[in-house]
Formats: sequence, structure tokens, C-alpha cells
Amino acid sequence: MTRVTPTHTLFRNGHLATMVAGADPYGEIRHGALLATDGRIAWVGADSGVATALAEAGVDGKRGGDVVEVDLRGRWLTPGLIDCHTHLVHGGDRVGEWEARIGGASYEEIARAGGGILSTVRATRAAAAEELFGSAVRRLSSLMREGVTTVEVKSGYGLDLETEVRMLTTARKLGTELPVRVRTTLLAAHALPPEFVDRRGEYVSLVTDVILPAVADGGLADAVDAFCEGIAFSAEECAAVFDAARRHGLPVRLHADQLSDSGGAELAARFGALSADHLEYTGRAGVEAMARAGTVAVLLPGAFYFLGETRMPPVDEFRSAGVAMAVATDLNPGSSPLASPLLALNMACVLLGLRPEEALAGMTRNAAGVLGLGAETGTIERGKAADLCAWEIDRPAELCYWMGGTPSVEVWYGGGRRD
Ligand code: NIG
Ligand code: FE
Repeated sequence: MTRVTPTHTLFRNGHLATMVAGADPYGEIRHGALLATDGRIAWVGADSGVATALAEAGVDGKRGGDVVEVDLRGRWLTPGLIDCHTHLVHGGDRVGEWEARIGGASYEEIARAGGGILSTVRATRAAAAEELFGSAVRRLSSLMREGVTTVEVKSGYGLDLETEVRMLTTARKLGTELPVRVRTTLLAAHALPPEFVDRRGEYVSLVTDVILPAVADGGLADAVDAFCEGIAFSAEECAAVFDAARRHGLPVRLHADQLSDSGGAELAARFGALSADHLEYTGRAGVEAMARAGTVAVLLPGAFYFLGETRMPPVDEFRSAGVAMAVATDLNPGSSPLASPLLALNMACVLLGLRPEEALAGMTRNAAGVLGLGAETGTIERGKAADLCAWEIDRPAELCYWMGGTPSVEVWYGGGRRD
């Protein structure tokens, strides 16, 4: 039997924003330290407690001993960032449509004229697997440069079995080729494909009876999402997709109430969804239903900004009803070409009124909950993966402050230094 020697990494001489929920908004430990063993957090505490912690763990902390020491040099250690809503695998771009929108056309007009999501569907169907993977790596690398250690990636630009599977396989490959943790979501109910015009019911059946079972059997998706909106699918159609997800044991999420109140938040809550996302038009009944169901509100300020929305998601109501809020980039070519998680944090504060500590919790602790990873990552706590960022900042709120000119960051994925 071979005995594998544990590897220990000791982080010292810095401050921790653990993001553990409690009285202190960032879970701060000034002059804190952290011991990671084999990629997991083994101990967290005040720097003054290091010697005792090492002795209790049976670790030789002396120079030349068992431990690699990382000098944080006064930097702030946070959990790795979690971008819990992206569409970063796709072919083509939508720059031409954006120019049309700047010229006055609306997102919905473009979609109804066969552009919008469907133009990305054409480009994605035409893209070879290597091309899809290469462009996704470039976009994901932008997120990783700003501290993302976990990302969710949706399908939804294939709308047929073959291309939906190609998108999800590409997303899974990102997680095996890069150090980042990837969670995938099937979004076959994103738009009605052109070949099913006037045959809506048949497309919904294709999703529920063919695409979803095949994806579930292949273990290609961790969750199922749908777009509940006038230009996409009705609440009844989305409910049929959710019923199928339930039959296959997959949790659900919903693009809800982005452009109108379509009852999306209530529907998500009724199915015990992990999250409802966008939510600009969600009313009081939707907020209350989400609170009762424990459904997280995922706010996407990039789409709000890029579509020039004026209707605000009900942040005060979420707060007072105790609905947890997450923040994500929604990185996609049509409504949110935002490849900067830190700018998403800034926008969540400036445009949507989140406090900086709420925004940061929304891209760490609460985002982990959305992905069903609350026990694995999202806070700096003993037993979780050592997904960590060391930022050159003076206080945690600074992560939500800059617009570009990102603070420099060093990243650890499960304890191994791979930035
Ligand atoms: O999250 N709302 C629907 N889906 C995406 C937009 C996708 C697109 O326009 O390509 C979103 O905003
Ligand atoms: Fe989206």
C-alpha cells in the first residue's frame, strides 16, 4: 500500500473575508490565517493561533517541515468567486444587432423578426466542436482572471438534441481542461426553433420526451432551466419542462419576469426551484412565493444595463422577505456581453441598490447555494474546498468599487496554486 503524504499550505500575514453569514457582513478575520490540506480548508483562525492549530493537526510547521507557506503580504483572502449564470458556450456574436439596438430597435423586435437568440442558434449549430470550445475558453479565461473558481454554463443555443448535447459536452470539457469547477444547465426551452414555428407543442414534447431524458441519462446536466416570457415559453410550457426534470431527478431554475410579469417567480417557487433569475417585473406575490420556497433571486445587472432597462428588480422586497440574492454576469452575446464578474458586482450596487457585502455574498455564498454547492464552496470554512482569491485591496468593499482596472488577484483552485 502506498501512503500518500498530505500537502499542507499555510496562508499567513493577511486578512480574511470568510463570507460566513453572521453579525459581521463579510465574516472578517483581520490578521487571520488559513491551513489547507490536500485542497481542503483544514483550519481558519487568528494568526496568533497558528502554532496551536499546526500542533493539533500534527503538522511540522518549521522551516523545511511539512508546510508550504504563502505570505499574503497584507492582502485580503476571499472565497473564489462563483458565476452562477452564464451562456458562455456559443457560436458567433451579435455586434450587428447591438448596433441596430443603439439605432433604436428593441431586443423584443429583433427577436420577433427571427434575430436575437435564434441568430446565435444558427451560428452555434454551424460551429464545429473545437471552435465552440476555443471561443468558450477565451470567455471563461476572462472570468478566471477576475477570481472565478466556479462557473455555471447553460445550453440553449442548439435547440435540437445534437447541438444541445454538443454545447453541454463542451461545457463539461471546460471543467476537465481548466482548473475551474463547471456546473452545466440544460436550457433547451430557451426559444422556439424556426423549424417548429406553429408547432409549439411538438417542440415542448421534444424537450420533455427526447432532449431532457437523453441529457439526463448521459449525465450532461446538473440542472434544467427555461425562459418564461412572451417571446419564449409560457408558464404552462415551462411547467411541462419542470415536470420532466423532476421525473429525471434534476433540480430546476427559471429565467423569470425579465421583460414582463409572466408569473415566472411563482412558477419557480411552485417547483422548489434553486433560483429564479432576472426578476425585473416580479411582483409581491412572486417575492412571497420565493421566500416560502427558499428560491434564490439571481440578479443579472449586465442584462439590465445592456438592454437599457428601467424597471428595477424588487431588491428591497427580497431583502425584507428574506429571499437570498445572488449576482451573476449572464455572460451571453445578446443581452449581456459582460465578461467581468467584478463589474457585475459594481453594477449590482450602483444600478440595483445592493450593498457591497450583499453583492459579494451574491457571488460567493449565495451563488454556491444556487448551484447546490453550499457544502463545497462559497465561504472560507473548515471542510470546504480551498477555492481562494488573494486580492490587493484595502477593504472588501473595494471589490465592488472599481469599474475596470481590476485589483490584482492570485487564485487557488482547491488549494493547488494554478493561476
Ligand atoms: O439571460 N433571457 C434569456 N436568455 C438570455 C439572453 C440570451 C440571448 O439574448 O442570447 C439572458 O438574458
Ligand atoms: Fe440568461
